[in-house]
Amino acid sequence: MDKLIAIGGGPLSGKVRISGAKNAALPLMISSLLTKETLRISNIPHLHDITTTMELLGQLGVKLQVDETLAIEANASEVESVIAPYELVRTMRASILVLGPLTARFGRAEVSLPGGCAIGSRPVNLHIKGLEAMGADIKIENGYIKADTHNKRLKGARVFMDLISVTGTENLMMAAALADGITVIENAAREPEVIDLADCLNAMGAKVKGAGTDEIVIEGVEKLGGADHRVIPDRIEAGTFLVAAAISGGKIKIVDVIPRQIESVLDKLREAGCQIETGEDWISLSAPVGKLKSVNVRTAPYPAFPTDMQAQFVLLNCIAGGTATVIETVFENRFMHVHELQRMGADIELDGNTAVIKGVGNLFAAPVMATDLRASACLVLAGLVAEGETVIDRIYHIDRGYDCIEEKLAQMGASIRRVPGHYFSQQSA
Ligand code: EPU
Repeated sequence: MDKLIAIGGGPLSGKVRISGAKNAALPLMISSLLTKETLRISNIPHLHDITTTMELLGQLGVKLQVDETLAIEANASEVESVIAPYELVRTMRASILVLGPLTARFGRAEVSLPGGCAIGSRPVNLHIKGLEAMGADIKIENGYIKADTHNKRLKGARVFMDLISVTGTENLMMAAALADGITVIENAAREPEVIDLADCLNAMGAKVKGAGTDEIVIEGVEKLGGADHRVIPDRIEAGTFLVAAAISGGKIKIVDVIPRQIESVLDKLREAGCQIETGEDWISLSAPVGKLKSVNVRTAPYPAFPTDMQAQFVLLNCIAGGTATVIETVFENRFMHVHELQRMGADIELDGNTAVIKGVGNLFAAPVMATDLRASACLVLAGLVAEGETVIDRIYHIDRGYDCIEEKLAQMGASIRRVPGHYFSQQSA
């Protein structure tokens, strides 16, 4: 297992291109299961989760081709299996997204239950409840969700989501696209990634209306065709690079981004004292000359502040002047980075879903351990502003969701390198 070595230094500045969004690309690739025709998806990010999704689709019998621009062509005309095995689902929870499309097109699916994860228990009861409302018979056996429509087409239904769920909404939207009749998803997730999937489904011939609002109406069609779709930019990658510049006193321009999709994050960065300008597909940020101001944050589903930016803002508040409260309302256990930041000298009090952070100005290098994707990003950025050499262990998490992070940070002037697992820092020895 590789480690990353980050050495704290000067401002992180420059120009960075934002890659395609992981959380849009995964459901888009999986939507290829809904048709016999070829789906072409461009602007795919180079990530481990994409490789896992290709492996999963490949095991089901989907033929995949990737070209030199990282566009993927997926053809599911000869699906041989409807089973998503534990070995893949446990490494990537988004694998649950095959449940809806397989059940809708083939009348059967067996998908391993994902189990708990580093940020919370993350049940999938809403995915199951929605498919049951559409007529699927679902049993849990030997750790697997087994869905069966007994050779009938799924039928349209009114589904109320007790909690707003991103992949839950996407799973049901894909299933409903091929169902008989009209499905209404109430209390639907409004994330840009949900809209991107709806756009692609519509390009494939589906009839999805209302994506981006809390009520999505899907009129099922008998079959879907191929399409050519470009993945939207990764708003969380964009936010992460903006925070990198903000906490290091830098100046950055990010391109290939859709500014209105991270308005809540830009708002907090302005409140922290950063100067921000936006164009149609770019954002520039200049950190304040003096200290950043601390900012209170409360995570919630889109368009509110994203949970996937919470760890980065806990870090920002460690560097800022003043005291701030960060409240996590989406996942029950998403503060693992706090304990690692404390080891780097952060002053954070944790009480349930609330972190109270007193800005300390400077952090100090320490060996730290990444626990989930966004916590890893937070620790890498922490290393780049801390005094000394920080060794970040278990960085496979970061490779799941950040495209070429070292290269992009190095382009901004960061001192960062990857070393083999047996590396020990002189400082920590
Ligand atoms: N929930 C349930 N039952 C369900 C589904 C969800 O109780 O059936 C709960 C979850 O436990 C959680 C809340 O509802 O407390 C919201 O979870 P959601 O289903 O929206 O999360 P998700 O779809 O599993 C996606 C992203 C996450 C992101 C969340 C929230 C993908 C592949 N993953 O997860 O991304 O944090 O939405 O925005 O789209 C990441 O990229 O680092 C990441 C974790």
